[in-house]
Amino acid sequence: MTEDENRIIEDTFGRIESLPTLPSLALDVIMLAENPNSSLADIALLIQKGPSMASKILKIANSSFYGYSRKVNNLQSALLILGLQEVKNIVLAISILNLFKKSNKGSGFNHELFWMHSAGCAQVARSLVAKTGLFEYELESFTIGLIHDIGKIVIDQFNHDNFLKIIHLIQQENLTFLDAEVQVLRVNHAQIGSWLAQKWLFPPELIEAIEYHHNPEKSKNSQILSSVTHIADIFCKAKDLSFIEEFKGESITDNSGWKIIQKKSSRNNLRFDIERFVFELDEEIAKAQQFISISQGSDT
Ligand SMILES: [Fe+2]
Ligand SMILES: [Fe+2]
Repeated sequence: MTEDENRIIEDTFGRIESLPTLPSLALDVIMLAENPNSSLADIALLIQKGPSMASKILKIANSSFYGYSRKVNNLQSALLILGLQEVKNIVLAISILNLFKKSNKGSGFNHELFWMHSAGCAQVARSLVAKTGLFEYELESFTIGLIHDIGKIVIDQFNHDNFLKIIHLIQQENLTFLDAEVQVLRVNHAQIGSWLAQKWLFPPELIEAIEYHHNPEKSKNSQILSSVTHIADIFCKAKDLSFIEEFKGESITDNSGWKIIQKKSSRNNLRFDIERFVFELDEEIAKAQQFISISQGSDT
């Protein structure tokens, strides 16, 4: 993003004290996961300090999201089966899902549908990288899918009048979300989301993937992750998993993000069957919905 765009975001949102921050448990888990000397025992000890987090991880490990045939009985087993990086992603996902749980009353912003869209994208993105042989992006693609549109919540909650103007432009003048945002704010939700991820000290490749999730060809260092999120977004909109009526006629095969994925995937000599993938999406989306309901469920 340009300096001007960054300044506009800083001026609009930078001084808001109630802007959500990641809970310290999530930050500590990220730090531990990134330290090569950490062990599963260290992370188990940390997670047990937050009993609600521990019980949610266990529920997710036993849900259709993973589909393990045997019951995972305790946190230690969950950590062993899932691994450190996977648990880090779950902790991050649960924390983010709970940061923005409450709706702004009467805003016309349906949080439930928003998170269904986000979790759907997360799971579709994860499945997409697995099916195209891009396994090294599997964990990050889920996190990015989950938070790619977080800028929209930031606009709704902290610049609400302009959010209503944006919705009005989309509904009355048939503008896309992006065009309406730029018309009203001079910046878009992808830039606002990446600005927030920067404040949360996310890794640079995730920050960049959020920024370019609508135009992955412009990304310099995170083209695959941006493309995967972009394509997952289109698949979810095609499946009516969108929290507001938007233009849905985007083609996959002509898409620049799809071409980037294809190019990288063919290097691995793997083929991908789009029709079969679309057919299987409902199952993937159902798994994602279970993930959110456990994450946002009561703390018992
Ligand atoms: Fe978006
Ligand atoms: Fe989206």
